Amino acid sequence: MPADVHHLRHPLIQHKLTLMREKDRSTHSFRRLLGEIGMLMAYEVTRDMPTQLIEIETPLEKMQSPVIEGRKTVFVSIMRAGAGFLDGMLNVIPGARIGHIGLYRDPKTLVAVEYYFKMPADMHERDAIVLDPMLATGNSATAAVDRLKEARPKSIRFVCLLAAPEGLAHFHANHPDVPVFVAAIDRQLNEHGYIVPGLGDAGDRIFGTK
Ligand code: URA
Repeated sequence: MPADVHHLRHPLIQHKLTLMREKDRSTHSFRRLLGEIGMLMAYEVTRDMPTQLIEIETPLEKMQSPVIEGRKTVFVSIMRAGAGFLDGMLNVIPGARIGHIGLYRDPKTLVAVEYYFKMPADMHERDAIVLDPMLATGNSATAAVDRLKEARPKSIRFVCLLAAPEGLAHFHANHPDVPVFVAAIDRQLNEHGYIVPGLGDAGDRIFGTK
């Protein structure tokens, strides 16, 4: 496993992920579980966020108490499955800005092709958290982070639900400086570029398009 991979083994995350994998799980339930896991993963990804002390007044007295320093997080959602993750993360960090990267996988070559890229201003002041539930071949993740680096955010983290070992290795070879947060690392990719055992097509399952 590449060095900077944070495998989040929290029982709540693992339990919810097991439910999501089940083939007969409804679209509604799948989406809700992904949102809940998004919240739990946001908690882990932001564990080392800097805080600053501010003065507040409790009903009893004044005190210095910590708050998160600045409001400079940008969630970068890789379309379209990233949107499922985004909702949960926004529950935890509602003031974050949101960027979008649109990529599709060429079904023959599995290479990522960009069709949309929109980021907020002042990216150089922002910590970027990139969201894509599935790190399969690693091609989309690598292409997304290649593009994102052109906008020069202060830092980049990559969050996914499932990864294939090949995809993780590919991503790490291209972006060794970007930590990956993942809930499960599955066995392998199949011949169609799907993660197995996996959970199928995340976008289709989130949006009910199949
Ligand atoms: N994208 C998905 O949605 N599922 C996979 O298994 C691989 C890529």
